[in-house]
Amino acid sequence: MIIRKCRRLLRMRGVKTFKKMFVYGSFSLTFFLIAQRILSDGQSQSIQLPTTKKTTQAEDQQFQIVFDPKAKPQVKEKENPAENANLPEQSPDLYNLKRVKGFSYDLFLFSAVVGNSSADKKWDNIVLQGWEHRMYENTTFGCCIKYTSGLMLPVNMTRKVHWAYRNKVQMPVKQYICPNPRHNTKDIIEAVTISGSKKHEQCHKKYNWYITPYFAHAHKKEIAVCTKFMYGSLPADEILSWFEVHRRLGVNKVLTFTYKLNPEATKVLDYYKSIGMVETKPFSLPRASRGRKVVEVGVKNMQAWNDEQIPVYDCFEKLKGYKYVAVLDIDEYLIPRGNKTWNELFDGLFKVRPWAAGFTFLVHLHLTTWGVTSNSSQFKIGQYTNRTKAMADRMKHISMPNRLGVGGLSTHTFTPNWTMKYKRFQAKEAEATLHHFRSCRKDWKKKDKNKCYELERFTDTSVSDIFLPIEKDVLKLKASILNT
Ligand SMILES: *[C@@H]1O[C@H](CO)[C@@H](O)[C@H](O)[C@H]1NC(C)=O
Ligand SMILES: *[C@@H]1O[C@H](CO)[C@@H](O)[C@H](O)[C@H]1NC(C)=O
Ligand SMILES: *[C@@H]1O[C@H](CO)[C@@H](O)[C@H](O)[C@H]1NC(C)=O
Ligand SMILES: *[C@@H]1O[C@H](CO)[C@@H](O)[C@H](O)[C@H]1NC(C)=O
Ligand SMILES: *[C@@H]1O[C@H](CO)[C@@H](O)[C@H](O)[C@H]1NC(C)=O
Ligand SMILES: *[C@@H]1O[C@H](CO)[C@@H](O)[C@H](O)[C@H]1NC(C)=O
Ligand SMILES: *[C@@H]1O[C@H](CO)[C@@H](O)[C@H](O)[C@H]1NC(C)=O
Repeated sequence: MIIRKCRRLLRMRGVKTFKKMFVYGSFSLTFFLIAQRILSDGQSQSIQLPTTKKTTQAEDQQFQIVFDPKAKPQVKEKENPAENANLPEQSPDLYNLKRVKGFSYDLFLFSAVVGNSSADKKWDNIVLQGWEHRMYENTTFGCCIKYTSGLMLPVNMTRKVHWAYRNKVQMPVKQYICPNPRHNTKDIIEAVTISGSKKHEQCHKKYNWYITPYFAHAHKKEIAVCTKFMYGSLPADEILSWFEVHRRLGVNKVLTFTYKLNPEATKVLDYYKSIGMVETKPFSLPRASRGRKVVEVGVKNMQAWNDEQIPVYDCFEKLKGYKYVAVLDIDEYLIPRGNKTWNELFDGLFKVRPWAAGFTFLVHLHLTTWGVTSNSSQFKIGQYTNRTKAMADRMKHISMPNRLGVGGLSTHTFTPNWTMKYKRFQAKEAEATLHHFRSCRKDWKKKDKNKCYELERFTDTSVSDIFLPIEKDVLKLKASILNT
């Protein structure tokens, strides 16, 4: 109890300390590493992104540890006091992050998702999300699976998926794919971990080193959004307006992680969790080791941008059974033209381009730095109705997750399953655009002081037209959430 109180205190302090750093809003990243050429009229041509890597020679050699799948449940683990000294306690309820036995502070598991590799396979595929020190780049590991029967089974890893920043940071993010050899039995996976840092290592018996997997279910008619993080001083009002607009547009589910989120916003998010629209957990970062920079969520550097891929990978695996999946930030509104719902818009787009894996959307910036254009609303989206012309500025996308390649989802783009001949397209401005409410970008101010003011402004009420008629109800909802 006391420990919890202390933690809460620390967390609250954290909010203050980092207030300056946490200017709420979007994660606008410079993905200059990602080469992509999108043709202006629709079709985008496919340069394979460096997000995944076919098994290289090094990986082909497999790891040298020989695992026997028929091995009996493991013998007692040998405790290594030196290794276990000074370890923080890791309770599964408090942390979704796990260190892995044998890797010191060089490998952290964030989540594990069990899914189906194809329509006729049942729970045959395990995908783990995590961070790994770059020195392990060419090392392939194994997985250890703990079943409800008590059996602990070591398996060889099928594939390691690398994110674009693999050479740029100390702790690049990874996906590890392992098979579930018992998918045809009644034995259910209870916990999973990585193994193989040392030769002849067997599955570790201590539950502490394992993570509990999430089972990805089919939701064939539903639309989900991945918003990565909600953190710091993000105002409750911005969560409310985003959810109420997107709920009306037909969004069924939102996955997000919180990080030092203020209490009022947390209450609002808890409300959406209580009605089943949100799945959320506190986000945690691996601690610094071997020169890893101590980073926070939302700061602008390589390691932080790399870290943002973790919730996207996590979303991708968990949301594989949804009809459509979007990656949007909480200050971005994807608005179809002509009073359509998302479902109507997407169905229409995919009907015209049956080989699409997904669509990117042009962006209208509603720059708050310009000043308010209307005082008739107390919400940002009602106050800033001026926007730029449609720009290819950090575009976002929606996709059909079952048409993407391995590790094929990221913040600003997606990788279609090329072997199935799926392609990437860009939606026309007349179909839908993304309305991004934000202040002028700092690097604009640096390079060209006036750029922000030189941009042409257009008055566009397409977001506020949806919101203003419901604002009164939203205020009532807010009062009822915050007063309980
Ligand atoms: C992994 O292999 C690649 C290709 O052979 C090489 O360029 C890279 O330096 C290797 N990484 C490490 C950490 O050894
Ligand atoms: C893992 O790979 C090694 C080397 O290729 C092989 O000897 C072993 O049988 C494999 N283990 C399993 C469980 O498939
Ligand atoms: C995977 O298969 C199981 C069992 O058939 C099913 O319940 C589940 O919805 C499937 N998941 C997805 C994402 O299709
Ligand atoms: C938009 O659609 C809603 C619900 O279908 C309808 O009530 C409203 O009148 C429509 N508005 C316009 C401008 O077409
Ligand atoms: C909104 O209110 C502020 C403060 O009262 C005022 O300065 C501003 O001119 C108003 N803006 C508009 C567009 O009415
Ligand atoms: C593409 O789809 C096919 C058929 O479903 C599948 O066998 C293959 O593994 C997929 N490729 C990728 C990169 O996901
Ligand atoms: C909004 O845009 C209109 C049309 O370009 C312009 O006349 C007006 O001054 C702008 N107001 C603000 C606050 O940007």
